[in-house]
Order: sequence, then structure tokens, then C-alpha cells
Amino acid sequence: MKTIIFYRSSYRGNTLKIAESMADALSAELVSIDSNPSIDLSDYDLIGFGSAINFAAHDIRLQRFVSSQNLKGKNVFVFSTRCRPFLGAYHKPLRKIVEAKGGIIVGEFSCRGFDRTGPWVLMDGYNKARPNERDMFKA
Ligand SMILES: Cc1cc2nc3c(=O)[nH]c(=O)nc-3n(C[C@H](O)[C@H](O)[C@H](O)COP(=O)(O)O)c2cc1C
Repeated sequence: MKTIIFYRSSYRGNTLKIAESMADALSAELVSIDSNPSIDLSDYDLIGFGSAINFAAHDIRLQRFVSSQNLKGKNVFVFSTRCRPFLGAYHKPLRKIVEAKGGIIVGEFSCRGFDRTGPWVLMDGYNKARPNERDMFKA
């Protein structure tokens, strides 16, 4: 099975750890969307998209990247790291984009990631040492 994973991990590299673990397990190609990739996806059986949750949704650049792809009939999984304990509806915007582009969502994963923004500065960050080995194993 030919698999490719696109990710953006701009804050602390939290999502990159998860993406690497998935790429290892699936023998997948791992591509940062910051490299402005232009890859023909017609050969791939499975495509993954992942980033941090920023402002209650996937990174806007990842959303734009996915919007520019043709995913007709493709099996797709989405993943993220986030600060908040619960995922809630954070994946919904990206899921909608994938489906609008013709993709079929076959899996989702999310886990906590270290965050030292806003109020968390006061306690020197939240979700310390996350993602950890367990998160990467589960991914
Ligand atoms: C600008 C910004 C906005 C964020 N917004 C949210 C949010 O809405 N909900 C949440 O749970 N975490 C939020 N976070 C925390 C990140 O999702 C978390 O730290 C993530 O693991 C960072 O992943 P990265 O290192 O791969 O970029 C935010 C972080 C930043 C820097």
C-alpha cells in the first residue's frame, strides 16, 4: 500500500513526532507542506494530513493545502496535536474540506501537545513532555 503523509508542525514540532511515528508504521512518505510540495496523488492508496490545532481547527495553511488537492475516491486520515484535553469538533473543518474534495475519511487521531502560549506561560506550559512515547505508539 502506497501511503503519503502531509503535515505542518510550526510551533514546537509536536505534530511532527506523531507524523514520524505514523510514517514509520506505514512505511509512508512524509512531506512538510512548508516545502510547497507538488505531488501527483493518483498513485497513492492512503493519504494523511496533520497539524496542530490552532484557533479551534487545523492549521489554516494545511486547510488551504488540502483545499487545493484532488482527493476523489482517495482514502484519507487526519490527525492533530492540541492543547485542550478533549478533541471536540476541532477536526470538523478539515474533515469537511477532505469530503468536499472527494476524499473518504478512514481514520482520525489526535493527542495532547505541549503548549506554552497565553495563560500557560504562568505555569511554564501545559501538557509537559507531550506527545510522549505512549502517544507515538498509539498514533
Ligand atoms: C497560536 C496557537 C493557537 C492555538 N490554538 C489552540 C486551540 O484552539 N486549541 C487547542 O487545544 N490548542 C491550541 N494550541 C496548542 C497547539 O495546538 C499545541 O501546542 C500543538 O501541539 C502544537 O503543535 P506543533 O508543535 O506541531 O505546531 C494553539 C497553539 C498556538 C501556538
